[in-house]
Amino acid sequence: MTATKPRLAWLSDPTVFEINRVPAHSDHQFFASKDQTKKLTQSLNGTWRVHLEPDLALQDLAFTKPDFDHQHFKYIQVPGHLQTQGFDGHKYVNTQYPWDGHEELRPPKVPAKNKVASYIKTFTVADELLDKPLFISFQGVATAFYVWLNGHFVGYSEDSFTPSDFELTPYLTEGENYLAVEVFKYSSASWIEDQDFWRLNGIFRDVFLYATPTTHLFDLNVSATLDDDYQTGLLTVTPTLTGELSERTLKVSLLAPDKKLVFEKIVPLSSDLKVATTITDVCAWSAERPDLYELELTLVDQNDEVVEFSTVKVGFRRFELKDGLMHLNGKRIVFKGVNRHEFDPIRGRAVTKEDMLWDIKFMKRHNINAVRTSHYPNQSLWYHLCDEYGIYLIDEANLESHGSWQKLGACEPSWNVPGNLPEWQATCLDRANSMYARDKNHPSVLIWSLGNESYAGKDIELMGDYLREKDPSRLVHYEGVTWNREFDQITDIESRMYAKPAEIEEYLQNDPQKPYISCEYMHAMGNSLGGFKLYTDLEKYPHYQGGFIWDYIDQALYQEVDGHKRLAYGGDFYDRPSDYEFCGNGLVFADRTVSPKAKEVKELYANVKLLPDQTGVTLKNDNLFIDTSDYFFTAKVLQDGHVVWQKDYRLNVLPQETKHFELDYPEVTEGEVIHEVTQRLAHDTTYAQAGFEVAFGQAVYPKLPKFVPTKAPKVVLGDVNIGLSGENFEVLLSKDKGGIVSLKYFGQEFITRTPQLTFWRPMTDNDRGAGHGFDRAMWLAAGKFAKVVDLKVETLENAVQVTYTYELPLPEKVLVTVTYTVDGAGKVNLKATYPGHANLPSLPTFGLEFKLPKRLENLSYYGRGPAENYLDRKEGSRLGLFETTAKKEVAPYLLPQETGLHSDVRTLSVTDQTGLGLKVSADQQAFSASLLPYSTMMLEEALHQDELPQVPFTYLRLLAAEMGVGGDDSWGAPVHERYWLKANEPLTLAVTFEPYQK
Ligand code: GAL
Ligand code: MG
Repeated sequence: MTATKPRLAWLSDPTVFEINRVPAHSDHQFFASKDQTKKLTQSLNGTWRVHLEPDLALQDLAFTKPDFDHQHFKYIQVPGHLQTQGFDGHKYVNTQYPWDGHEELRPPKVPAKNKVASYIKTFTVADELLDKPLFISFQGVATAFYVWLNGHFVGYSEDSFTPSDFELTPYLTEGENYLAVEVFKYSSASWIEDQDFWRLNGIFRDVFLYATPTTHLFDLNVSATLDDDYQTGLLTVTPTLTGELSERTLKVSLLAPDKKLVFEKIVPLSSDLKVATTITDVCAWSAERPDLYELELTLVDQNDEVVEFSTVKVGFRRFELKDGLMHLNGKRIVFKGVNRHEFDPIRGRAVTKEDMLWDIKFMKRHNINAVRTSHYPNQSLWYHLCDEYGIYLIDEANLESHGSWQKLGACEPSWNVPGNLPEWQATCLDRANSMYARDKNHPSVLIWSLGNESYAGKDIELMGDYLREKDPSRLVHYEGVTWNREFDQITDIESRMYAKPAEIEEYLQNDPQKPYISCEYMHAMGNSLGGFKLYTDLEKYPHYQGGFIWDYIDQALYQEVDGHKRLAYGGDFYDRPSDYEFCGNGLVFADRTVSPKAKEVKELYANVKLLPDQTGVTLKNDNLFIDTSDYFFTAKVLQDGHVVWQKDYRLNVLPQETKHFELDYPEVTEGEVIHEVTQRLAHDTTYAQAGFEVAFGQAVYPKLPKFVPTKAPKVVLGDVNIGLSGENFEVLLSKDKGGIVSLKYFGQEFITRTPQLTFWRPMTDNDRGAGHGFDRAMWLAAGKFAKVVDLKVETLENAVQVTYTYELPLPEKVLVTVTYTVDGAGKVNLKATYPGHANLPSLPTFGLEFKLPKRLENLSYYGRGPAENYLDRKEGSRLGLFETTAKKEVAPYLLPQETGLHSDVRTLSVTDQTGLGLKVSADQQAFSASLLPYSTMMLEEALHQDELPQVPFTYLRLLAAEMGVGGDDSWGAPVHERYWLKANEPLTLAVTFEPYQK
């Protein structure tokens, strides 16, 4: 494009989105020598100077001149955002535009309250880059920017998430060069960059110079697919060259994964070069076996000197629609995906290589095989890593106009962009092309996505048509047609967001015309991911080809408050409007602490399912391409949680086959027996070491403890207290305090106050979104204000039994009994019974909460762990013996909420530092429990982790059960009914206390 309008008019004109930009091209590496030591690139990352001007009227272009006195400019790190470096305030909004309520605007107008950052960098061109055409590449600048070199205007660009290259040659000077960049916070492009994220801007990705030799490989198009036999590789290399072509040659070499040369050809240069070959018995690329070939392109001149050497990794793979299903290398594929924003709590979206490596290793370790680059093309390095580690990608164009067509949840597209508007067409196509041109050679990219939540219309349809025409080897994805089915043809895949399992099933059962994926599902906000299995169970339908969890990482930023650092969410910076904690939906917390939800993902996404039984194990290998020979299997027998036998096996199952193996489990006749088999890596891999556990399976032969009193206690029937005692213990049951007031073992007191009946759990994000508070509020008061209406004392054989009857403060009369049965050996059996009652909302939870002295902060349990688990989220947890502490049990959800629960508990102990404490055992039925440094009400009240009080107590919840946590979405989806505690069904907590010394 060339400029006709005045400079600032480009900002609000959607038809002007680049001036003088070099056409988009592939991201291959190139050097001046074959050994890759002579570089042709020079980084401009590092310290730059900057000035942020909030008043556009005060902005002048003096700073673009090399003689400008910029002493008052501050220092800034590039890449980096203005906001994360203190130059501008933070703001988080979801769908609404950031100027909503401040300025009345319609597209393509730009807010008057815009900000402009003037950046300055001086540089001297490195010797190796001298005397050649010189270019600059900005890998990512938000939202619109202008470039000058030595006072000369160079160019302009939009699209925050794809590279903008400009030629600098005509403006270069010898020695120091003066680069000036003017970055605007808002432009017309802001209307189509309305992603649900922190609104960060600046030069936030790498900036570098590159020089092009006399002949240069400008663009490379590598097609590496498979023939119909799925064994022969078909390679076509289409280079686009610039510069001198005559008397020069190109050597095309292909090295196999083992570095052996498998193909080589030397061709004279021409303007329409194409080199094609076939490779027999090719090692195909997949996430399971990411075998990469290396393609080398050597440009040689008439003197046999290397002019330029380029390399690119090549993965042979064939992705196609076959019989209406997505197939990779001839096999139906299932995406076990996550959505990933580029994020770091310090640097925002300016993520580093270390962050990316951490992310990809985490994904591989959690059996995640796919990523949707929500909602923009990521840094180039991410694609290289996905090729290398084996991750399938939906590469998504930088397009989201959510606030232009959806308001307060309702679809209102009267002024939506881009829609069918001709003035937005070119910029949309440009975004599709910039993504395609850069990423087309990456085997990891299987699907192009046209953007997110931008409704549907002609402009997006054109993007799809463009990509389909350019690249028949991939499919086109767009979910927005679900809001406007007139444009259904835009997408090759039926893709939905947050569709419920039953809705998906309905599609799958009714003659599906397209393969199905959920481009977003399982909203992992706070304590969530309940009912995940209801989705993975859909894999049995061929048209169900997986989904992408929303999302990978919390978007929360560090904030200094009152002398300490905390993770902050929207609104914490007094940014208004804000969508508050909605920025935190990750499987990992913003600081990359792994959340307990990750375990569930790991297990349900595992490609090998392990089903132990009495005699051995059945292995179901859902891998498409690999057998299980790269793994070993550890079989264990557990007796009451203790490992009593263990043996490693090599068991081989072919891909997509199921096989049963006999194992040598010894017979164990006493206690509860568990057969456990785990799948482990036999060799070190790029993401984990040999021995790393990939998946597990358990078969449990339940045998639960039972309370049997052995001798009678000593009884003192006081006026107010019933005293029951024996050697080394004493119990006081109060007639007026409604329960136990003293439990002493070894002379130490364990009761601070009478335990509280509890029907309430600290609300989760999902609870809040689903209106759970309104629906179930009565249960909040039910425990706290229950009153004792009856007390009964009975003498049994070998025990005394005291029963309290509570009436609950509910519109219906409901009586709950709590019975203490105490024997002379110091055992205290507690039974709490909710009888069941019609006409009441289902219960969040039911049991008792004990406030214990803080010294009891160590927890060991034989139950489901090690991560917290719930009725609808326990596939990733196993039965076993685990040790932890009250503090460690708190998952630091951005907004404090229900946490730390373990279900199917058989026994637990809470102890002090000397190992002295209480043991609690199930009485014929397992229970759920948590030990936390906070009470239910403290967690309920706090809005941040740092609002939670430090108190000299720990809180032990002993529960008959708790409802599931849900996760279909966090804005209304209820927990699935099968995971409710129905009010009309009785619930009983039955446990026995006894002294414990570790
Ligand atoms: C989706 C959207 C995501 C995110 C999510 C809610 O509608 O595509 O970007 O906003 O909802 O967390
Ligand atoms: Mg959105």
